[in-house]
Amino acid sequence: MDISVATNVTDSVEADAVVVHAFEDGLPEDALAGNIDRGMDGELSRAISDGRVSTAAQHVTPLLTFGRLPFGQLLVVGAGRREEWSPERARTTAGAAVRYLRALKQRQVSLLVPALGDLAANVAASVHGAEIANFSTAQYKTKEPGEQDVERLQVLVSSGNPEEITAAADKAHVIGEATNVARLLANEPGNKLTPTIFAAEAQQVAGANGLEIDVMDEARMRDNGYGSILGVSRGSQEPAKMVTLRYRGDPEAPTIGFVGKGITFDSGGISIKPAENMHLMKSDMSGAAAVLGAMQAIAQLGPRTNVVGVLCISENLPSGSALKPGDVLTAGNGMTIEVLNTDAEGRLVMADGLVHARSQGATHLVDVATLTGACVVALGRVATGVFGSSQPWTELLLEAAAHTGERMWQMPLFPEYREQLNSDVADVANVGGRDAGAITAAAFLREFAGDAPWVHLDIAGTSWVSSDKPHLGKGPSGVATATLAQLAELVDDRGLPA
Ligand code: BES
Ligand code: MN
Ligand code: ZN
Repeated sequence: MDISVATNVTDSVEADAVVVHAFEDGLPEDALAGNIDRGMDGELSRAISDGRVSTAAQHVTPLLTFGRLPFGQLLVVGAGRREEWSPERARTTAGAAVRYLRALKQRQVSLLVPALGDLAANVAASVHGAEIANFSTAQYKTKEPGEQDVERLQVLVSSGNPEEITAAADKAHVIGEATNVARLLANEPGNKLTPTIFAAEAQQVAGANGLEIDVMDEARMRDNGYGSILGVSRGSQEPAKMVTLRYRGDPEAPTIGFVGKGITFDSGGISIKPAENMHLMKSDMSGAAAVLGAMQAIAQLGPRTNVVGVLCISENLPSGSALKPGDVLTAGNGMTIEVLNTDAEGRLVMADGLVHARSQGATHLVDVATLTGACVVALGRVATGVFGSSQPWTELLLEAAAHTGERMWQMPLFPEYREQLNSDVADVANVGGRDAGAITAAAFLREFAGDAPWVHLDIAGTSWVSSDKPHLGKGPSGVATATLAQLAELVDDRGLPA
């Protein structure tokens, strides 16, 4: 979407549709809102005070202007209580408005953001909410679509510092677009996005954004001793790929490593999953998609730090050559792994990905994976599970998440949990029983991060939006893209913790 920001706007709007917020106690005190209300002979403010227009947050009321104003469609979006106006609210009201206008097939939209609170943050959140709302999951529909992309969004504020607001909006736009890149990939079915094609998509993103890229094939994985990811790909006709992307922002700065789980389809393998909802396992590469999206955003934002992104890409299928329960694998750090369940494949590919990120010079790690159903049981579809080996590094990640509005929640990782992974035959088992399944999965990954400060994000519950919301359609969320990009910005600001 083409997005522009205009500050100090009081009058004259060119668009197909204009969005105005309505608080419980009336319109925002902006000159432009006042002018629009006057253009409607005060009917807008009367309708709000009479309760004929809903002011509940994200509720929308479409009004036709019948030639009274220079645009045909006025959309009133409920903004709730004036005192509660915040970036979070701005993100969801902008999203609800854009989703509604997509259905009305309005291409050119102006959004008036109330001049209240932290303007730069509120405008940025509005831009972000609008960008991610303007997304379709209907890639493969061949018939006339019921909705249309908004092509141009003009964000209007009646006051504020233009440089500061525009910079914040541009950054939010970059992050929103990158999130949509991740979502598009996560929505691709397994037959369209094979490991080879995913690696080619990464090459595309790298080429378009000036990132260095290396695509490792299975022969090189074997040379590196990456027997853990190779174990997972054995059952598939499609060869695994390990993709390394590199952003160089400052030769003096240290290197952060982002590692993403890229299972393009997870059937469970020989420990096969039940049929119900198995199709959603096409999105079991959402972690790798988020890392790729974040790398794009980082390349465009240009923080003064270095980042390597590792995508661990494979299918997980049963066949005559597939990994079997009881098999023992050797990972890139020399550790032996007893595979007790082939459906715990994410941690197997990530083990080698973490080792690889370290070998590429990463001193601080964040991994992102749709890792466990147990995390969905623990935190539902609301919050991403956060696990860390270093509290300062974990807290920096949580601060980045808070800034982007992505809900994340830290879980414990006490050493006692590691005991559940003791194997009779190998250094570690790949599952630790039913209890604390999300934590034992994290404890497994920790073994492969070495002594680097490491954070693990379990996005199994948050990578897929299960039902339509006013501001966000059901389907892939692109979660963690924004947080990773924001983390690189924070590291530029603050440096890395010890
Ligand atoms: N990809 C799944 C986890 C998952 C579940 C993601 C639901 C999204 C929604 C993962 O590979 C998996 O199968 N995990 C197993 C681990 C178990 C065998 C220890 C699980 O959670 O059941
Ligand atoms: Mn699995
Ligand atoms: Zn999986």
